Amino acid sequence: MIFASDNWAGATSAVMTALADHTSGFATAYGDDPLSRSIEQRFNDLFEKEVAVFLVSTGTAANSLALATYAKPGGAIFCHEDAHINVDECHAPEFFTAGNKLIGIAGEHGKITPDALRKSMAKVPDNNPMHGRPAAVSITQATEYGTLYQLDEIQALADVAHSRNVPLHMDGARFANALVSLDVSPAEMTWKSGVDVLSFGGTKNGCWCAEAVVFFKPEDSDGFEYLRKRAAQVFSKARFISAQFEGYLKDDHWLANARHANAMCLRLANGLKDKPGVKLPLWPEANELFPVLKKEQAAKLEAAGAKFYDIPADFVEEDEVFVRLVTCFATTPEQIDEFLSHF
Ligand SMILES: Cc1ncc(COP(=O)(O)O)c(C=O)c1O
Repeated sequence: MIFASDNWAGATSAVMTALADHTSGFATAYGDDPLSRSIEQRFNDLFEKEVAVFLVSTGTAANSLALATYAKPGGAIFCHEDAHINVDECHAPEFFTAGNKLIGIAGEHGKITPDALRKSMAKVPDNNPMHGRPAAVSITQATEYGTLYQLDEIQALADVAHSRNVPLHMDGARFANALVSLDVSPAEMTWKSGVDVLSFGGTKNGCWCAEAVVFFKPEDSDGFEYLRKRAAQVFSKARFISAQFEGYLKDDHWLANARHANAMCLRLANGLKDKPGVKLPLWPEANELFPVLKKEQAAKLEAAGAKFYDIPADFVEEDEVFVRLVTCFATTPEQIDEFLSHF
């Protein structure tokens, strides 16, 4: 009953097999090996255009370095107030952007609206060094609350960002979960909807540690190699990150993993919705569910071995707790049924 996070799961056998296949022998170091080159081509095919792709090992590195590429002296980066980059990365984005300021915007269900973004950006006008200047906008897909931006919502946010001449970054730590839920193509959910740069997550959905920064205008990536090396994110045996992506992307393995994770989340939601004392303020759109439980019930589940995190919330009653339940490729129907049996 591990619902703490999708990164508590191991890696899939397809990913581990690909890693094992590339274990022996020699290959050029630092990413100039044939496998790494082939993965770059794989990303071009996936996104139906020539992209510039750079592999890193953590989502924090992907986000921070993607944003660092667009950083400016006095830059401001706009995001949801609960965005991972704003609250869960120990200010790495600020550090790697040499002090660009993250500006958190409130918004229901983990999403920012174009209007709220426009108003927030208006407080940082152009040509006034007193207030700094916009450098980027970042959204998370799927969001930190397991919800999704529809394609027209992404485009509307991109339009606001572009009207201020800054790029739209997408934190895609759960990119696959969002993609299969919306049933759209990777191109549609990104550059065709105005996204300029993507943190493409693999770790939460079956890889061991594999993330990619994808620039949809390759010329934007000028200087990224230096930022990545300076951040100690250039792997001498880069082929092992590439190998993970080989196994991950082959035969739509990644999409199958995400469909499974999302289906498990729906099973959990459907099983919980009629349980006494349970409230579901948000219906899951990907692989995260946020129920309000009675404290007593949560304690009983934890005593039975269930793992999940509490989220501070001011809208719950004294005897309630807001929790996050995350499913993944490794979640089984039996684990969910066991969890539900404790109510
Ligand atoms: C929305 C989001 N972005 C990025 C990350 C990447 O984090 P890490 O640096 O731990 O790989 C996470 C992981 O929890 C996440 O939930």
